Amino acid sequence: MAGIYIHIPFCKQACHYCNFHFSTSLRYRTELMAALVKEIELQKNYCDGEIIDTIYFGGGTPSLCTTEELQSILEAIQNNFNVASNTEITCEVNPDDITETTLISWKTIGINRLSIGIQSFFDDDLQWMNRAHSSQQATESLNLATNYFDNISADLIYGTPLLTNEKWEENVNRMMELNIPHLSCYALTVEPKTPLQKMILENKKENVDPEKQATQFLLLMKWLEKAGFEHYEISNFAKPGYRSRHNTSYWQQKKYLGVGPAAHSFNGKERQWNISNNTIYIDSINNGQLSFQKEVLTEVQKLNEYIMTSLRTIEGLNFEKLDTKNKMELLKRSKKYIETGKLIMQNNHFVLTANGKLFADGIAADLFFTEKS
Ligand SMILES: C[S@@+](CC[C@H](N)C(=O)[O-])C[C@H]1O[C@@H](n2cnc3c(N)ncnc32)[C@H](O)[C@@H]1O
Ligand code: SF4
Repeated sequence: MAGIYIHIPFCKQACHYCNFHFSTSLRYRTELMAALVKEIELQKNYCDGEIIDTIYFGGGTPSLCTTEELQSILEAIQNNFNVASNTEITCEVNPDDITETTLISWKTIGINRLSIGIQSFFDDDLQWMNRAHSSQQATESLNLATNYFDNISADLIYGTPLLTNEKWEENVNRMMELNIPHLSCYALTVEPKTPLQKMILENKKENVDPEKQATQFLLLMKWLEKAGFEHYEISNFAKPGYRSRHNTSYWQQKKYLGVGPAAHSFNGKERQWNISNNTIYIDSINNGQLSFQKEVLTEVQKLNEYIMTSLRTIEGLNFEKLDTKNKMELLKRSKKYIETGKLIMQNNHFVLTANGKLFADGIAADLFFTEKS
């Protein structure tokens, strides 16, 4: 089984924290959508004929596309790949694009899972982030979406300067009231070259407070566990049966093709990433060429990727996947994390505790192997 990710590199307005690849000019949208179809044709052998069982429209803002544009992509995938009948088809959508009409048309073309970027139900937070939607639109869009879709995920951002613990609880409670079965919750990261970073450096915006982020993450885990959610990946929580199959396959090192500018692909041996420039992308595809860079993964890189991703998941790191020498080495280096209650050994798996999850990336990096070790 393999997956396909399609990157839609357009947004209505630039959120101040975001450094994903997108353009707020829609000038080349038609050309870009046609190029996506061509890339799918050019890459039809990428997943070695494996059955495709997840498709994910991400961005950017896929909900800016017309239904016909999204449908042309799905048709190209159907025509060039072996697609399972129960394929999970997710579309990232922004609240301000949700209407009864768009919901019906997304459903009609086969989209069966929505990922909605809510971020907060408070206008002051949304304005601080420069989101294009209001708190009223956040609530109304989710309400409307639940009339048409059962499999819904919503994104929230915490650890922002204006978000008190009380507001954070209100945001999470609102999701519970609306019965949203999947939440992706991200600590605000100040990414390089974003307007947010610039404003913080110029003292025009308050910086993030790591202690507040840690507190809000611990509170989140407590509230969602009580509400019956599985914390199945560090940023992802799902009611039983509602985990994202597409994202789970990334964490299980399955093959996926990424289509569109800046999209990444993995075929089990190599990672490649398309050029992050819409016009160069369009021109090269129109010349029958793909513009990308690639990296062949060494055994050590594959092992380190496994350490990084598995530690972030509920299943943890399967010790049995390591050879004897690596097991001994990892046992030695993980001792301090076990002794300080950050890591536990459970049925031959290393699993992070709630406290350990606060340091997930740092612990994983510390356990990495080097080419010589
Ligand atoms: C790249 S967006 C694409 C989806 C859609 N355009 C939207 O804004 O909802 C995916 C999610 O990444 C999260 N995100 C992006 N940049 C982030 C940052 N710097 N810190 C925390 N979360 C971020 C947001 O929660 C957002 O919903
Ligand atoms: S968070 Fe979403 S809507 Fe905002 S700029 Fe990034 S991709 Fe676009």
